[in-house]
Parts: sequence; C-alpha cells; structure tokens
Amino acid sequence: MKAPNVTKVTTHVLQEMKLREVKISMLTAYDYSMARIVDRAGIDVILVGDSAANVMAGHKTTLPITLNEMIYHASSVMRAVSRALVVVDLPFGTYQGNSREALLSAIRIMKESNANAVKLEGGREIIESVDRILSAGIPVMGHLGLTPQSINKFGTYVVRATQEEEALKLVEDAHLLTEAGCFALVLEKIPAVLAAKVTREISIPTIGIGAGNQVDGQVLVLHDMLGINKDFSPRFLRRYNNLYDEIKTSVENYISDVKQLKFPNEKEQY
Ligand code: KIV
Repeated sequence: MKAPNVTKVTTHVLQEMKLREVKISMLTAYDYSMARIVDRAGIDVILVGDSAANVMAGHKTTLPITLNEMIYHASSVMRAVSRALVVVDLPFGTYQGNSREALLSAIRIMKESNANAVKLEGGREIIESVDRILSAGIPVMGHLGLTPQSINKFGTYVVRATQEEEALKLVEDAHLLTEAGCFALVLEKIPAVLAAKVTREISIPTIGIGAGNQVDGQVLVLHDMLGINKDFSPRFLRRYNNLYDEIKTSVENYISDVKQLKFPNEKEQY
C-alpha cells in the first residue's frame, strides 16, 4: 500500500500504519542532496545512521563516528526534508553505561540538528538511558539483533539470535523497549520467524533489515540499495540500481571529453 497522505510523518502516523497494516519504508541518508531526493520520492522515515562512518567516511566499523559528526550529517538532512520522519543514531560511546551522558547527547542532537527522534542499539543494558531520554520528551527508536556498535563483542557480522538463549533475550528486550515507551524497533539480521514473532507480540512498529517480510517495515542503507558500494553483498540486500558503474562511466566520459577538447563546446561557453 502507498505511503499515507500526510504532510509530515510523525511517530503517531507510524503507529497508525502498524494498526492499519500499511508497511513502513525507511532508508538512510547523510547529506542534503540525497535526503532531498529520498524525501521527495515519498519515503516514510529517513535514518541518519551511524553507518555514515562506513559509507561517508570509509571506516571499517561504525564505532569511530563522533556526536559532532552525526549532528553535522543530521543538520544537512534536516535542511532537505519536509515530509519524512528523521531519526538520528546516537553514536558509540555517547549513551552506553551513562544515562546522564545519553540524555545530554540526545538533547544535543535534537537541539542542534532539529531532528525528530534518536535511535539507540541494545536492550536491557541501555534501558536506563532510554528511560531518561524519553523522560525529556525525545522519541526513541530501539535497535536489536545485529547491533553493529557491538561488533567487537560479536566478532562477526553473521545472523544473530539463531540460538534459543539469544532469541529469548531478544524477545524480552523487545518487550522492555516497548514498555519503556520506544515508538519503533529496528530488527537487524535475525531469523524471519523470530522477527515475525516479535512483530506479532509488541504493539509498536518493527522495521526489519535482513529480518524477512513479516515485519511492519523495511530499512536499507541508501548507498547499498543504489549500488554505489559494490563490496557489500549480504543476502538481504536488493540492489535497485548500479550507480557505481553509472557514475564511473560518466566520470570517464567527462575525462575523455576534456582531454579531447570536446567539452565545453560553443554552446557551453560565453
Ligand atoms: O546505521 C545504520 O544505517 C543502521 C541501519 C542499518 C538500520 O542502523
């Protein structure tokens, strides 16, 4: 079903979509130009993900990105967006183990970027931070399953919660985050059957990435689905374009035109 006919997507709109079984579309964006296109296309939610560390800055993990850098990306996106709900990742080290710092980090994001909500990775371990941020009136999106900020604990990017103990903890965490007052939950790289169970059991929308289609919505990293990055090919990724080759060919054609004095031509000069 099509995106709802609203001028601005809010957390209430997402809740309504779950109730009416209208699927939620979500993509990442990190800059003004891309965010503008994605918003005009009618996406429901834009995530200023800490995947910016990989995609925009070339880091191997999401851990190095700073709060100031996330605020820079989020502000650029906010200047472009009018309809989508914009959610910003709290970066690694700004909320774990210290709920006061979590609150201050979330307030900085909201105040300095004008974003609509924040996202935190984890369950019981971070619930105090979630509570404190929510108490300031800041909407929080949860994130369970493969949580990339914990990659050094996991040691690998394989599917999470395939064993009973981890699956039980994930279901428990999903309930905890719901009861705390989160407005939605990202489920990353977990078995489809488990994601379906969580989606049935909790009242808030679930947004899957590598979590099957029995969830309330889907999210992908924009640069991956556009085929800008060719090095990342997990099973869950569908490429809707091959922009790596398209951009490279365009640049090659430009270089060739410049070298051969074909650009600019008479009409392209003063
Ligand atoms: O940072 C990110 O892009 C994310 C998505 C993969 C959900 O958290």
